[in-house]
Amino acid sequence: MRKQIAAANWKMNGNAQQAETLLREVMEPRIKLKNHQFVIFAVPFPFLQQVKRQLGNETNYSVSAQNISEHASGAYTGEVSAEMLKSIEIKYCIVGHSERREYFGETNAQLAQKINLLLKNDITPIFCCGEPLNIREAGGQDKHVETQVQESLFHLSADDLKKIVIAYEPIWAIGTGKTATTGQAQEMHAFIRSVLSKKYGNDISSLISILYGGSVKANNAAEIFGSPDVDGGLVGGASLVAKDFIQIINALKS
Ligand code: PGA
Repeated sequence: MRKQIAAANWKMNGNAQQAETLLREVMEPRIKLKNHQFVIFAVPFPFLQQVKRQLGNETNYSVSAQNISEHASGAYTGEVSAEMLKSIEIKYCIVGHSERREYFGETNAQLAQKINLLLKNDITPIFCCGEPLNIREAGGQDKHVETQVQESLFHLSADDLKKIVIAYEPIWAIGTGKTATTGQAQEMHAFIRSVLSKKYGNDISSLISILYGGSVKANNAAEIFGSPDVDGGLVGGASLVAKDFIQIINALKS
């Protein structure tokens, strides 16, 4: 089975003490993950090392950054490089979250740069894509997401593409309490896989984990994750509530 992933996106929430408590509570039941199941905590930069330390050697639990500079190094005050992440042994990084695209104007081309730097530093990019409401209402979601995937990923070799995790996050479902129906999620995930297949072939596209994001909650995770092309979720709000995120981890396909 493909990797099934429950990824917590803490966004810009909490402080170091609250992070420590939240993680302790999530880890409390000591959920034993199967070989194909992974839990990832995407946390603010200042908490990366403490979360990593706190997770210790717990198998299949990892910490992730939420963003990275598109530059390798240099005079970019306030930015963080992929090499810096590598040097503290961070293995994952979110790229192109819709909040970065929307509030910080990140473009598909910049995201391609970020992905290159991450791969060069042996860090797995969690690449986010997804359409805004007006495009969904006009029926343009396929084209929109296809362009995002083409412009940020299609320069990669098949070997590099295999290292990517994709998160489909319809913007109208993020933080709104409005989830895509299982039908809508499955349809878009299958579509994204077909876009990858056309370029890289079925053998490669069938290896890529595609997570769903957008108001995944404790009470809908099992249903959403149950769809054949949905390989887990990228979870914002509900990942800040330990008992909810625990249920979401338990909803991963076994
Ligand atoms: P949400 O956020 O679960 O709060 O909708 C998801 C995300 O933005 O990754």
